[in-house]
Amino acid sequence: MAILIHMSWVLLLTLISIIFLKKKKNPNSNLRLPPGPRGLPIIGNLHRLNGIPHRWFHQLSAKYGPVMFLRLGFTPVLVISSSEAAEEVLKTKDLETCSRTKLMATGRLSYNFKDITFAPYTDSWRELRKVAVMEFLNPKKLQTLKLIREEEMDFVVKKISNSAPVAVDLSKISFCLAANILCRTALGQNLRTNKVFDEERIVKLVEEGSVASEKMFKELDEFYQHVIDDHLKSLDGPKSTDPSADIVAGLLNMVDKNGTGNLDHVKGTLMDLFLGGIDTVAIIIVWAMAELMRNPRVMKKAQEEIRAVLGSKREKITEEDVDKVEYLKLVMKETFRLHPAVPSIPRETMSHQIKIQGYDIPPNTRIQLNVWAIGRDPKIWKNPEEFIPERFIDSAINYKGQHYELLPFGSGRRICPAMPMASNIVELGLLNMLYFFDWKLPDGMVGEDIDMEDAGMISFYKKAPLILVPVKHHH
Ligand code: HEM
Repeated sequence: MAILIHMSWVLLLTLISIIFLKKKKNPNSNLRLPPGPRGLPIIGNLHRLNGIPHRWFHQLSAKYGPVMFLRLGFTPVLVISSSEAAEEVLKTKDLETCSRTKLMATGRLSYNFKDITFAPYTDSWRELRKVAVMEFLNPKKLQTLKLIREEEMDFVVKKISNSAPVAVDLSKISFCLAANILCRTALGQNLRTNKVFDEERIVKLVEEGSVASEKMFKELDEFYQHVIDDHLKSLDGPKSTDPSADIVAGLLNMVDKNGTGNLDHVKGTLMDLFLGGIDTVAIIIVWAMAELMRNPRVMKKAQEEIRAVLGSKREKITEEDVDKVEYLKLVMKETFRLHPAVPSIPRETMSHQIKIQGYDIPPNTRIQLNVWAIGRDPKIWKNPEEFIPERFIDSAINYKGQHYELLPFGSGRRICPAMPMASNIVELGLLNMLYFFDWKLPDGMVGEDIDMEDAGMISFYKKAPLILVPVKHHH
């Protein structure tokens, strides 16, 4: 009986709200909104949300066009899937579209948006981004930290050599490589000698961090506090010889001297470098290796070029070598085209109405830039689903944010500030893996058997780990 009374109340309330919604003039009714599927009252198009967002958007855009309007619950969403529209958003209207939507999950991770990545467009975002670039993400610092990256790469080569010819989990190896490099260079934490947070614990934290359960959040918070305490301790004790961790100093200084922000801003920014930096780098190495294994012609050409250019007697590879190998750069571009680590870049418009491609876009509209779909647009790319690095020969297109056909790092004010460092690590990683080893698939497998399914929340990784057999290349 109680249930029946409860249900009739629900019915009544639903009816009242439908009548109310019909009577209340829709504030968007006079706008020329972009086309999109009709939604239901209250939930909008949420009931249609099906599977992985960038694929779902891609399917819908095939019907409604590259500038599409949806409503997910009460949130208006603009989905962009063409390079022309992306250029208008990221270049002409960058200032009007460079905020981010406040979501519950990202709010928790970012100490209530006191960070760079998830913060809306505010003064504190500007200040934190400035400190991150001044203290860490700049060309001079990139050069200073080169030896650490090379040393970490040597550890990986040794690890793989010790295992060869037994199969290795290349997803895990790439993840550990990125974690070791970023923890040392950005946070001043050497995971090999750290007694509190070792490699295993860090990998688990990054893998499960995006789930943002209360337990994980507590552990992440402990880690950031550990980084801060460690830094404060080293100020009292003997000066650290490690040139890193200046960003922690820069952030603490900002809090102390300028009075801008508090400890949450420091932790929020450490989260950006830690959670945002590690998995994206690893994701690209894994996709590139998976594509090379599926395309033996490309693998052979890449290895032949690398070994011809570097000669056969190298014990070690340096970052200067990266600039000598042209074909590998094309392989990287092709990997970024087909597998952008952030397939659908989230933005939000400001609190005023704007026009995009002639359509009216209401204030505070969430934008999803489907760079995954743009990378597969048959109007731009011939045989878009095929992995053909040669398509970039004699092409001016690069991924630095000025070519809207290829946007793995975004563009404009919020472009990934770590682009040079991230592409350096990926290139160095691939160069070492391709120079020192030949790679085989586990017994009985052929290239087409590699499972290319992706999974994720904001960044998307290869769902099944990439297991490969390394064979030492004798020279
Ligand atoms: C291959 C690796 C990487 C890829 C593909 C990548 C991609 C991206 C993308 C697409 C964005 C959003 C850009 C936009 O809104 O226009 C972004 C933002 C960001 N990335 Fe990366 N990223 C990578 C590595 C890193 C690393 C290693 C770090 C840090 C150490 C990092 C730190 C950030 C930060 C702090 C932002 C937020 C910028 C802002 O909102 O102002 N990324 N990244």
